[in-house]
Amino acid sequence: MRKIEKFLRSLTFNIRRDKELDLNRRGFVASALSLMGIFFLSSTPLVVLSKKIEKESNEFETLIAAQGDLAVGDSVAFSYPKEHDPALLIRISETEYRAYNIKCTHLMCPVYWEKEDWKLVCPCHHGFFDVEDGSVLAGPPQRALPTINLAFKDNGIYAVSITQAQH
Ligand code: FES
Repeated sequence: MRKIEKFLRSLTFNIRRDKELDLNRRGFVASALSLMGIFFLSSTPLVVLSKKIEKESNEFETLIAAQGDLAVGDSVAFSYPKEHDPALLIRISETEYRAYNIKCTHLMCPVYWEKEDWKLVCPCHHGFFDVEDGSVLAGPPQRALPTINLAFKDNGIYAVSITQAQH
């Protein structure tokens, strides 16, 4: 029994602890880098797919109204790009229309069109937006309303994409 124990001890004393530690560190770094590589490679297709889906959802085309349905200064509500995304189309001159997502950029209250003041108004904390470009005129919102880009064809007005404010 003593012989076996002595033999085992001699084996243990033969191991160079510093080298063993070095190998472990190297092994750890190699494993970590490999794992990072695997995560990166496996997530890349998902990122590409999500960008594609986002782009597609923002480029859905939908008919809002027929040209001439609205008098100058009038507005019509619609949803874009999804059913639960409230939006407003406003005719601001004989030839010009504007459309915005109407979730206030402060705390998401629905913004409405105030024809008399020619402004978009958020009733929650008195936020005001310019109908020309959706920019903030006054109040707590820090960002402009997202703009819905329009196309005119076959006597219809279509929402074709949405542009988020950059600031
Ligand atoms: S939610 Fe519109 S101003 Fe606060």
